[in-house]
Amino acid sequence: MLCVADGEAQAQSEPTALVDQQHCMFCHTVDAPFLAPSFQQIAAHYRNMPDASVMLEQKLRVGGKAHWGDMSMPLPADRGGPLSPEDAHTLVQWVLNQ
Ligand code: HEC
Repeated sequence: MLCVADGEAQAQSEPTALVDQQHCMFCHTVDAPFLAPSFQQIAAHYRNMPDASVMLEQKLRVGGKAHWGDMSMPLPADRGGPLSPEDAHTLVQWVLNQ
């Protein structure tokens, strides 16, 4: 039997299938800036912004203005396929918990 109450806790472990499918680690790493800011930098940057996850989920799905320099992130279609709102939520929760 599955314990549904675990939902939020599980969101903190890496959603590996999604991360692979969307090639997140092609440009990002957890702790070292590479082609893109590290997920720890991103998490630290947005830690005190309560609405950040909504903005970031939107950005992962439909794109938006770059916040970290001139290069912006490719859209889901160029990363490996469409991204559902649920999957975007899972990814953003994971990034912000680094
Ligand atoms: C082709 C390279 C590339 C891939 C693949 C990529 N990113 Fe990024 N990402 C970037 C760059 C460059 C930035 C910084 C530009 C910006 O602020 O939009 C960024 C920024 C971000 C940000 C911060 C956005 C902001 O507005 O502060 C998040 C969160 C993020 N990426 C998550 C992800 C996740 C999750 C994946 C996999 C689904 C992913 N990225 C895949 C290049 C990439």
